[in-house]
Amino acid sequence: MSSPGLLLLLLLLAAPPPCSSSLSQPDIPEGRATVEDLILSALERATAFLNKRLPEINLDGVVGFRVLEVQLKGVQEAWAHKPRLQPLSLRVGALAEELAWLLHRSVFFLNLSDPEYFREFQSIIQPGFWKLPHTWTRTNISMVYPAAETQDSFSEEHSDLCLVQLLGTGSNGSQPCRLSDFCRDLMTTPGCSGYCLSHQLLFFLMASTKGCTEGLFSQSWSYKNLFCANMMDLNQRVEAIGYAYPSRDIFMENIMFCGLSGFSDFYKLRWLEAILSWQRPQEGCFGRPAPGDGTPEGPLPFRQHVLRRIKRREKQFADGCSSHNTATAVSALGGFLYILAEQPPANRALWGPTPSPASGH
Ligand SMILES: *[C@@H]1O[C@H](CO)[C@@H](O)[C@H](O)[C@H]1NC(C)=O
Ligand SMILES: *[C@@H]1O[C@H](CO)[C@@H](O)[C@H](O)[C@H]1NC(C)=O
Ligand SMILES: *[C@@H]1O[C@H](CO)[C@@H](O)[C@H](O)[C@H]1NC(C)=O
Repeated sequence: MSSPGLLLLLLLLAAPPPCSSSLSQPDIPEGRATVEDLILSALERATAFLNKRLPEINLDGVVGFRVLEVQLKGVQEAWAHKPRLQPLSLRVGALAEELAWLLHRSVFFLNLSDPEYFREFQSIIQPGFWKLPHTWTRTNISMVYPAAETQDSFSEEHSDLCLVQLLGTGSNGSQPCRLSDFCRDLMTTPGCSGYCLSHQLLFFLMASTKGCTEGLFSQSWSYKNLFCANMMDLNQRVEAIGYAYPSRDIFMENIMFCGLSGFSDFYKLRWLEAILSWQRPQEGCFGRPAPGDGTPEGPLPFRQHVLRRIKRREKQFADGCSSHNTATAVSALGGFLYILAEQPPANRALWGPTPSPASGH
């Protein structure tokens, strides 16, 4: 593990133990400010990467940074009345402003490089689309599918088609929140894993964001519970195989989407440490690990996920930086910063004892 991870661990060991009783946690141990500082520094480096590569970042990359911008504003609000956090709060504000400017400019390049995709999905990179959770819950292990049933049959084309129906941006002049039987089946079929699963969750997350509440969407909450329970299970399996490289992307995507859906148990301290350690110090991006750094390759099923998926979504730069990896990383990290700032009671897991990967949620 690289030095930020180690440093973080040391700081946390030095910090007072978490108060287990209630909301009335003593106002922030010294170590805590440093965790926030580490996250913020990582986000500043990633934003510098965005700035440098702006013309080449694809739409899915931009989504991650738009989510981050919203998270930073949430952090700023939460810190507004905490004088001790003013210096950090100023940095958060400056970063959010820089992002707003960069994201505004990115529209020009996205429209240029893939006009059709841009037209269909531009609403999800607009300011105001993404919203932060204000109540928190945890995943329920009893909803995890039996292992034999799961499969990753993700099709980018099908997933896009259904999201376009949801958003109502198809060329038919279609209405938002209306679904074909095909999409209803695709998005609710049990037994999905990997990107198939995360896109089912994304579908219901975006339905809520979009304000779809009728019909199938009256059950959005049950589906989110089901999907995030399985995404939690997958993340724990990724941890168990040592975060082998290709699986890091889905691991961070799961934290991004389920975190935005209000599942606080995705914000585990040891997962934060792991993610921070994956950032390339020079480029500020996330992507393929440097050769020979000891990162495991991972078992075949995880590698196959990667090969099969994401043509339009992924953009891998020659130096190994990945647009999609960086996007999921910054919005996962932004989620950690936000939940730390908001500090709901459910968040105690973050500071609690570290269970073994197998032992649950
Ligand atoms: C995208 O590009 C087209 C063609 O150049 C242009 O007509 C349109 O206004 C652009 N849209 C945005 C939002 O910039
Ligand atoms: C978890 O889900 C099961 C059924 O799937 C339910 O019976 C149980 O009450 C749930 N547990 C919690 C803590 O919500
Ligand atoms: C547009 O309408 C046609 C005919 O009704 C239908 O077959 C097609 O799936 C629709 N396309 C979208 C994107 O909804």
